[in-house]
Amino acid sequence: MADSGPRGRPEVVENIGLLEALATTRAIRRYTDDPVGDADLEQILWHAGRAPSGSNRQPFRFLVLRDGRNARAAKSLLGQSFRDGWNDKRAGTEGERAYRPSRFADSMQHFVDHFESVPVVILVCLERYRAPGPYEGASVYPACQNLLLAARALGYGGALTMWHLGVEDELRLMLGIPDSAALSACITLGVPAGRHGPLKRKPVGEIVFDDEWGTSPSWIAPA
Ligand SMILES: Cc1cc2nc3c(=O)[nH]c(=O)nc-3n(C[C@H](O)[C@H](O)[C@H](O)COP(=O)(O)O)c2cc1C
Repeated sequence: MADSGPRGRPEVVENIGLLEALATTRAIRRYTDDPVGDADLEQILWHAGRAPSGSNRQPFRFLVLRDGRNARAAKSLLGQSFRDGWNDKRAGTEGERAYRPSRFADSMQHFVDHFESVPVVILVCLERYRAPGPYEGASVYPACQNLLLAARALGYGGALTMWHLGVEDELRLMLGIPDSAALSACITLGVPAGRHGPLKRKPVGEIVFDDEWGTSPSWIAPA
């Protein structure tokens, strides 16, 4: 278990720059038993709330699940949904390939098997102010990324997930979430048991076009 500072803050907080954080913040699915301190959680959510949104309406809402009675019940409901989600994904029953044994599959299995002990689970919701549209996510997902980056800056790690959707109706009832709020994401947070690090992503020249679709920019060096 990592040493904890006051209110659960990991003792060794890397002092990393913004670009390094962007290049190395990956999904963390294994956590130590250390808590996320109150002050840190407040800071993380404060920074999440600084995200941009259409017309600055700030429709994002964060429902935090820690150790309360509702939280424990919701985590157990979510745990089952996560296990079902991963079972389907691992077996390739969603029209996707099946997952072979790998470090990734191990970390997923560990994640879902220990979901109930994830220190903090945050349901990121969006208070709708108009009919659901294709771009409403644009006003909530920047806040999710801010949240993950702020967590990283304070020595924590997290994963943005979607497996809450399997128990959306039950969560609404249990936690009093109104129909006007969309359940946009479920983010887990804790002190990483492993490390952040370089991300496996496509070369930039493959994802950027110049002047017309499909033309790689000459100003990007080949990978
Ligand atoms: C829209 C979205 C949905 C995701 N859904 C899940 C999920 O349901 N379960 C999960 O464990 N990770 C989920 N992730 C995390 C991705 O699997 C992860 O970011 C991606 O595989 C890249 O891995 P890395 O961040 O470790 O580099 C999701 C990420 C995004 C952006």
